[in-house]
Amino acid sequence: RKPLTTAKMRKMKQDGVPITIVTAYDYPSARLAEEAGIDVILVGDSLGNVVLGYDSTLPVTIDDMVYHTRAAVRGAANTFVVADMPFMTYHGSVDQALKGVARLMQEGGAKAVKLEGGAEIAGTVEAIVKAGVPVVGHLGLTPQSVHQIGGFRVQGRSSEQAEKLLSDAKALEQAGAFALVIELVTDELAAWVTKQLSIPTIGIGSGVHCDGQVLVFHDLLQYGPVTPSRKFVKTYGNVGEMVRNGISAYVKEVKARTFPAPEHTFHMDNDVVQYLYG
Ligand code: KIV
Ligand code: NA
Repeated sequence: RKPLTTAKMRKMKQDGVPITIVTAYDYPSARLAEEAGIDVILVGDSLGNVVLGYDSTLPVTIDDMVYHTRAAVRGAANTFVVADMPFMTYHGSVDQALKGVARLMQEGGAKAVKLEGGAEIAGTVEAIVKAGVPVVGHLGLTPQSVHQIGGFRVQGRSSEQAEKLLSDAKALEQAGAFALVIELVTDELAAWVTKQLSIPTIGIGSGVHCDGQVLVFHDLLQYGPVTPSRKFVKTYGNVGEMVRNGISAYVKEVKARTFPAPEHTFHMDNDVVQYLYG
């Protein structure tokens, strides 16, 4: 199959066909996601939490993103891969932002980049789009601003906040973004914004009316330490339990010397055995 294009994603919105996105951060996860028929892979800076073990996305660097994007792209050559621009790599000069984007595209092999924020970054988004790079916006709960927001809670409950989110969304659309992630806002607000944009919205924790959905690989599959379950995550598998059970069975069998068994074992010819053992 061929990777999706930004034009096809816009068409999917018009036709009411939901866009499916999952995060992936390395070769096997990206490959499995592609084999499962995912539309788009996001190499999210959520990798800071779920693969690097940080307690937020703030420590993630452009080097981290390049490294993981390369691995994911190798696993999913036929999938449209988006990479996150990490914390504080696009709020200084436009030139600095473009340097980071260039690394994600040239070294990482990403087809697009995602940036958190609204009107305040629209100028930077426009410059990236002018450089020929497709951009995804990200509004609502933006984890890189967690300390300013003051925690992970549902955004945009008031009419003022709703209007602000819409004007930010319009600013990003105007700047040339081809899609917009809307994280942790009410169903009603996500639907209202989705209807007023020509570009597809991708929801996470934002109800069923978005033009697509995105979930974090490790959340969706319960892969990793048991994290407190969040209302908006549905789990479709329990990879963590499978891994733990598999490794504990291996440990038991090695301790009991039941692994390796004869079928895992290689032997010399008999005359050489005779020579060695007499
Ligand atoms: O980093 C990430 O995984 C994301 C998604 C949750 C949208 O930005
Ligand atoms: Na992210």
